[in-house]
Amino acid sequence: MKILYLFHCYLLLPCVAEVEFLLAVWRHGDRAPESLPYPSDPYNETYWPRGWNQLTNVGIDQATKLGKFLRRRYQSSVLPAFDRKKITIRASDADRAIETAQCVATALFPPDGLQVWNEGKYRFWQPIPIRTNGKPDPMLRPSKIQCPHYQRIVADERLKIEADINAKAGYMINSWSESLVLASQHINPKKALLYSSHDGTLTALLYGLGISNHQLIPYTACIMIELHTGNNVKVSFISIPYLSYFITHSSQSRKYTHKSYELCLQIYFRNTTSENPDDVHELFVPGCSTDCHLSKFIKSVTGVRVKSLEHLEDICQSAFSRPSTLIFVIIFMLLIL
Ligand SMILES: *[C@@H]1O[C@H](CO)[C@@H](O)[C@H](O)[C@H]1NC(C)=O
Ligand SMILES: *[C@@H]1O[C@H](CO)[C@@H](O)[C@H](O)[C@H]1NC(C)=O
Repeated sequence: MKILYLFHCYLLLPCVAEVEFLLAVWRHGDRAPESLPYPSDPYNETYWPRGWNQLTNVGIDQATKLGKFLRRRYQSSVLPAFDRKKITIRASDADRAIETAQCVATALFPPDGLQVWNEGKYRFWQPIPIRTNGKPDPMLRPSKIQCPHYQRIVADERLKIEADINAKAGYMINSWSESLVLASQHINPKKALLYSSHDGTLTALLYGLGISNHQLIPYTACIMIELHTGNNVKVSFISIPYLSYFITHSSQSRKYTHKSYELCLQIYFRNTTSENPDDVHELFVPGCSTDCHLSKFIKSVTGVRVKSLEHLEDICQSAFSRPSTLIFVIIFMLLIL
């Protein structure tokens, strides 16, 4: 058998197939303003069903629709029923993000089989854990991170955008890259990581991956990163004296796909409130457009990954380390002198 492993190689075929692993991040539903929008606005806090900053009834409906959308799209693959070993739901530590996650979970995971605990009015509801990272949360709430470097250079638009991307999306992109690689190695039993967050989180992620459409992020918009296998066919070249031939193994032969780093990655954007599982836009990361194999994706995001909180702090503190920033500061000082 050993000889098989010695001579195998992957044939990178076009990516079409079953979703094996899912990373999804969405924005919370429609919300009330932070405070009275303008002094003479007649609609004070009493008019907002859950108060300032909170979800509105429309927002709850949108979040429920997102849950139905996800159920239709992934019920037959990675989200068949709630299983805490395979599925994690995380929200930023803001009530509207946590509540949006609750609505999504309710629509996504009605109790199934033994999970059914009530035949009455709670027949289709079961408790689902929603975790948060507390505050601050550089992953799910990057817009709230204190980043002096970023603040000092706000005057320079180009630098601002660049710093913004590195400081705000890098930590998340790194964490996601790690989850994708783990999933591809079949070490982790997780099938789906679902994140409930904010427009700033999605904006940072889209810019960080180079796939933004430069538009505002609508309520309950959702980015889905899917890892596909199924078509990951491997060709082993078996060398036997006097007889050399190719054998094609399909992905059913799991023992041959242990080195399955070459999974395919597809990114979809749902930027409506539709429940139709096909109402999505496919987005292509520069350098990884068609047949984006995982190793190629990891390579194309290497530059934006921020590997630890210390690394993030370094980026945020290194205000005057860039020559271009220094030149800008010098010119600015000359101008005001
Ligand atoms: C909001 O305005 C109404 C009158 O329009 C008033 O009765 C109510 O006390 C106000 N509520 C708050 C929280 O200020
Ligand atoms: C949704 O995203 C697509 C692809 O980026 C874009 O063409 C479209 O204008 C977006 N629609 C909204 C409502 O943002």
